Parts: sequence; structure tokens; C-alpha cells
Amino acid sequence: MSLIEEIDINRLPKHVAVIMDGNGRWAKKRNLCRSQGHVEGVNTVRKITEIASEIGISYLTLYAFSTENWNRPKEEVDALMNLIVIAIERETPDLIKNNVSLSMIGDTNRMPDFARERLQKCIQDTSHCTGLKLILALSYSSRWEIVNAIKKIAINAVNNNIDINSIDESSVDAMLTTNNIPDPDLLIRTGGDVRVSNFLLWQIAYSELYFTHKFWPDFSKDDFCEAIIDFQSRERRFGKTSEQIII
Ligand code: IPE
Ligand code: IPE
Ligand code: MG
Repeated sequence: MSLIEEIDINRLPKHVAVIMDGNGRWAKKRNLCRSQGHVEGVNTVRKITEIASEIGISYLTLYAFSTENWNRPKEEVDALMNLIVIAIERETPDLIKNNVSLSMIGDTNRMPDFARERLQKCIQDTSHCTGLKLILALSYSSRWEIVNAIKKIAINAVNNNIDINSIDESSVDAMLTTNNIPDPDLLIRTGGDVRVSNFLLWQIAYSELYFTHKFWPDFSKDDFCEAIIDFQSRERRFGKTSEQIII
């Protein structure tokens, strides 16, 4: 029996978020340059998008480039921006075929024009698709996002558009880049490190976390299914007792 058949389709995580880590170490282990690892990582993006769509996941958010990643050597940043464009150009027809719509979160104004514009074109070209919603986090960091949300709320308060006492969790949610997206049910990180590296800090308050030592280029469709199966074995209590959940 293949792993996909072990997944209970009635208990799927609605939103899976992934910290795709380990491209550089995958390449180093093979005496390749880091960019080769990123090239291989793009193939994994295609495979994981395919399987997420096949399983019936509604939202897949992939952390592709963090705010802090701008501090990497210029050659690596340039190679990554070029790679994103090549990959988007190559994959758009298959995204449409598989009914996958693309969107982005992050400070994309920092990206070179050619990359942002190509991504925007793909977002437009897939906007009619009604299946999996693929969200790329690019030039994204959670603290950047939260600071922006605070600024927007402060402006509304200063202009008397809102009463400070009415600010609640949903007012903050509404100001985040993820405002129309449910919180991740499952967060996967590949590459062996057990940290969240400034990713969706507000949104993962009650996400199930799944860490694997596999480097992102080695992460397979079966590995993704295994993470979903593991998720389905967990009891999500949201602060309640086990007995309350079972009732
Ligand atoms: C993840 O792989 C991809 C990006 C952050 C762009 P890394 O490039 O971080 O790979 P490692 O962690 O150095 O192996
Ligand atoms: C996290 O990976 C960011 C992405 C996967 C895009 P990093 O490689 O940048 O994270 P750290 O530096 O190891 O925490
Ligand atoms: Mg890394």
C-alpha cells in the first residue's frame, strides 16, 4: 500500500506550511555549489505541490526566501532570484493544468523588478484556478509582518477610525499578509534544525510542528505523506483537556 492511501481524507490539515531548508548542505555533501542545491530544491517544490494537490490540501505555504536571506552573498541571492523566475516560467502551465493558484506573501518590493513582475504574471495567469492555493513566502519575515500590522492599527487609532478597546485577535489577523488564509494546521521543517526562523510566528500559535533531518532536495512525496499521517495521529487540544475533545 502506498503511503498516500494511509491518509484519512476526512482529517486533512487544511493548511500546510513548509520551511524548505537544507539545499546548501545537500549540495556541500556532493561537492556541488550551493546554487546546485537550490536548483534541486525547485524540483522538490514541484513534487510537493503535486502531491499536496493530489491529496486535496487547500493551502500550501512555502518559505522560499526570508528577509534575513538578503544578507547572503550577492552571487547566491542573484542565483536564487534568477532561479525563481526560471522555475515560475517553466511551471506555470502545469500549475494551471493542476488547477493550482499562486500567491505571494512578503516584502516583495525588495525583490528585483524582473522577478516580482514575473511572479505577478503567474499570479494573474493562475487566478482562475480553484484547487490548491500555493503561497510563496518571499522576502518574508514574521517580525516584519507584525511591525507592519502594528503600524496599520496605530494609524487607524490615531485617525480615530477604530476604538482601541475594540482591538482583538481578529483585528491583528486582518492586518497580516495572511489575512484571508486560515492558520497552518501543520508546519514542516526539513534540514534537521529545530527552529522556526522568523516564519509565521503569530499564525503558528497552535500549529502542529514536524521536523525532519532530510534535506529539502531529498524530501519526497512519501515523506510529505508521512508528515500528514503523523499529523493525523496527534490530538489537538487547543488548551482543553483530552476528555473535552473526545466529547
Ligand atoms: C533553504 O536552504 C533555501 C533558502 C533559505 C533560500 P539553505 O540555503 O538554507 O540550505 P542550508 O540550510 O544552508 O543547507
Ligand atoms: C529559513 O532557512 C528560511 C527559508 C527556508 C527560506 P534559513 O537557512 O535561512 O534559516 P536559519 O538561518 O538556519 O535559521
Ligand atoms: Mg538553511
